[in-house]
Amino acid sequence: MTVDLNSRYGLNPAHSEVVEACKIIEPCKALDMGCSNGRNALYLSQLGFNVTAVDNNPSAIAMLQQVVSTEGISNLEAQVYDINSAALTEEYGFIACTVTLMFLDPARVAAVLADMQAHTLPGGYNLVVCAMSTAELPSPMRFPFTLKAGQLSEAYQGWEIIKYNEDVGTMHNGAQLQFATLLARKK
Ligand SMILES: C[S@@+](CC[C@H](N)C(=O)[O-])C[C@H]1O[C@@H](n2cnc3c(N)ncnc32)[C@H](O)[C@@H]1O
Repeated sequence: MTVDLNSRYGLNPAHSEVVEACKIIEPCKALDMGCSNGRNALYLSQLGFNVTAVDNNPSAIAMLQQVVSTEGISNLEAQVYDINSAALTEEYGFIACTVTLMFLDPARVAAVLADMQAHTLPGGYNLVVCAMSTAELPSPMRFPFTLKAGQLSEAYQGWEIIKYNEDVGTMHNGAQLQFATLLARKK
């Protein structure tokens, strides 16, 4: 039986949308954008994806590299990378960017999304989860960037939209925060 590495290293389980997406996406070359301590990257690697995990936090990457080395994981490479650079060099069957976009430079978000799309293989998938701020529900948290209503789905025009919602969630302090969630397949 496979060991649950997230539990072993005290990490939260993978993001629920990553878990959902993996019910339809076959193991392939995957990119985890803004991987932090690697909860999604480790999950994907255990499912057999060939994972590249990037973050601009060198300590988070060093911790993940330590786990990879300790466990002898051969299908996960963790790298320091500034997502704002929008300078991916390889193509992927699955790119996940969960709760990361809102920490980017707002002036770079369009370029980052375009770069993700350009580096997705035909038939490949993008998963994006990002905080929103609208007139009806302004974000209670001051993120550098938040999505407007419909902004994320518009950015994926021409893709097959597998899942899209702009649901409101309740945070542990009781505040309401709206997130856009998109899973799309490149035609
Ligand atoms: C809230 S965490 C999300 C982690 C992970 N995606 C998840 O679902 O648990 C946001 C991550 O984005 C990373 N991040 C923020 N700005 C970044 C940038 N410009 N380039 C790369 N990573 C960045 C942070 O270091 C942090 O690890």
